[in-house]
Amino acid sequence: MDRYVVIGNPVAHSRSPEIHARFARETGEAISYERMLVEPGDFARATREFFEGGGRGANVTLPFKVDAFGFARERTPRAAQAGAVNTLALRGNGVLGDNTDGAGLVRDLTANLGIALAGKRILLLGAGGAARGVVAPILAFAPAVLVIANRTRARARELARVFAEAGCVESAGLDAPGAGFDLVVNATSSSTRGEPLALRADVFGPGATAYDMAYGAAARPFLDGARAAGALTSDGVGMLVEQAAESFLLWRGRRPETAGVIAALRAT
Ligand code: ATR
Repeated sequence: MDRYVVIGNPVAHSRSPEIHARFARETGEAISYERMLVEPGDFARATREFFEGGGRGANVTLPFKVDAFGFARERTPRAAQAGAVNTLALRGNGVLGDNTDGAGLVRDLTANLGIALAGKRILLLGAGGAARGVVAPILAFAPAVLVIANRTRARARELARVFAEAGCVESAGLDAPGAGFDLVVNATSSSTRGEPLALRADVFGPGATAYDMAYGAAARPFLDGARAAGALTSDGVGMLVEQAAESFLLWRGRRPETAGVIAALRAT
């Protein structure tokens, strides 16, 4: 059986093995997929050992996405744009690095949730690694504007500068991000840190959707606040499954069905 892993620290909570087991069953692909806990500072050694031992591919999660970027011999254009790698695939003698997070987000938004992005006012909260990976894929849909708002304003300004040529992108502080957005995406780590996200209620326009890239309990504080402000809400479980499907496609050349897997994950 071809071997795949998800590499992270911590990694025990990862739902990727369950997702890929479902994909494998559905497509009839004979793969094994396990969790691989790696100590900080040991990523390159442990990953090299995995591939030398016959491993075919890996998903990479926190805190190693930038290490994985450095590890890959070649990178896809979207990984280069994101500055981070969440998928490694054995290619000939080398290892290719890809980033499927942004594709996973926009696919969940557009195909699963039926949200049009073209011509819309979109607010992205956060300017760290998670935010960076989704900027270009969102801009590819030509929104009217993408405002990147961050607590540390300088980081938002820098991110907007990097992607200035990819579309209409602006930056702001979290305290004054503007008002009346159609879609507000939370890419901060505030709730996973158990800290409140101070956000004005008027960021949500009429009929707005609030989307948290985290899922389950971690998404709750932001989504509860958004719902109270009148927005429709979704956590990031669909993004999680869609980025996994995109990795599976890179590894196996087949795109699995995602709707049933998303429903199964939501139910547990
Ligand atoms: P990640 O790779 O998950 O994006 P990161 O690079 O550490 O992690 O970025 C975390 C993001 O969450 C940043 O945008 C951070 O804002 P700062 O740049 O100002 O630090 C944001 N963040 C974390 N805790 C926050 C909080 N309590 N309120 C607002 N933003 C927060």
